[in-house]
Amino acid sequence: MALTVTVTGATGFIATELVKQLLEKGYDVRGTVRSLKNEEKVAHLKALDAALPGNLTLHEADLLQEGSFDDVVKGSEYVFHTASPFFMGDSPDAQKDLVDPAVMGTTTVLRSVSKSKDTVKRVVLTSSVAAIMKMKKGPLKGKVYTDKDWNDENTVSDGPYQYSKTEAEKAARSLAEKDGFEIVTIHPAFVMGPVTANRADATSINTMKGFVEHGEYSFFPWHCDVRDIARAHILAAEVPAATGRYIVAQPPVPTKYISQVLSEHFPQYKFPPGKDDDSSETSYDVSKAEKELGLQMHPLHETYIDMVTTLIQRGIAKPVPK
Ligand SMILES: NC(=O)c1ccc[n+]([C@@H]2O[C@H](COP(=O)([O-])OP(=O)(O)OC[C@H]3O[C@@H](n4cnc5c(N)ncnc54)[C@H](OP(=O)(O)O)[C@@H]3O)[C@@H](O)[C@H]2O)c1
Repeated sequence: MALTVTVTGATGFIATELVKQLLEKGYDVRGTVRSLKNEEKVAHLKALDAALPGNLTLHEADLLQEGSFDDVVKGSEYVFHTASPFFMGDSPDAQKDLVDPAVMGTTTVLRSVSKSKDTVKRVVLTSSVAAIMKMKKGPLKGKVYTDKDWNDENTVSDGPYQYSKTEAEKAARSLAEKDGFEIVTIHPAFVMGPVTANRADATSINTMKGFVEHGEYSFFPWHCDVRDIARAHILAAEVPAATGRYIVAQPPVPTKYISQVLSEHFPQYKFPPGKDDDSSETSYDVSKAEKELGLQMHPLHETYIDMVTTLIQRGIAKPVPK
């Protein structure tokens, strides 16, 4: 019989790829969404369900409503908690817009897990390298960040996204320890790669669209592929010995490299030249994910090419013709 799993925030960029890979493997997937009425946000998930071997049901659940996830989590073997706001810009109320849904939302989901400890074997939480790397003074030259590092330098008013990820992970670990269930965290760098939905509101998608159309890029140079992130989540659930924190990141690349890759692959378009970057001496140790999960990562040139190919196909990005 197919195993049942829950994916929170199923509409998201990462979660969509995770749902896709779970359906390809034949899982019975329960996806949570904020609203079932928003057809634009769920249409691509319904299409995946129709096309792939597994089975997907969608459920409304509210991160800020205690008990909202009780029914959907009940009977699940694994719970993948991905839902959390992801944006780095200013917010008039960062506590309400970023920190509460991340921290209280994680607690809400995990309290539901506590009530279903008899069936839930493991929780896989989507954390971030934002909970690991300290960036306030800029990249530390020569530093190789590992799963032992914690970013504890941000606050709600100074780096609220980073703060939200550190606090959400701390809250999750403390609840798991207190209530006695297993939790594994995945720490992606900035996620790129192919898109499966026509929506363009995810930060990853918007960032690549901004770069190919106008040369705008204000993000970090440490990237990873959405397919590898989804795979890492599944391996973190399925590999019995998986434990702790897993960083998934490639060595840093300047936007100049992205521009070169895209210019060679799409000679019909003119891409912005990009820039060199001074972060090349700061990196992440990903050997834990490679050794313990057996994760193999896509080379980044494939990530960029596949992302831009799907953005063009879906009419999301329109690079300038030559
Ligand atoms: N993309 C990256 O580069 C990256 C890197 C490291 C970690 N992460 C983490 O990966 C996870 C998913 O990110 P993503 O890139 O896939 O972002 P995304 O496409 O914006 O997806 C975010 C998901 O969270 C849900 N969500 C956001 N705010 C919510 C709220 N207040 N209440 C309920 N649901 C809410 C969204 O629901 P709606 O569809 O209804 O908006 C969506 O399903 C997040 O935990 C993020 O911190 C992302």
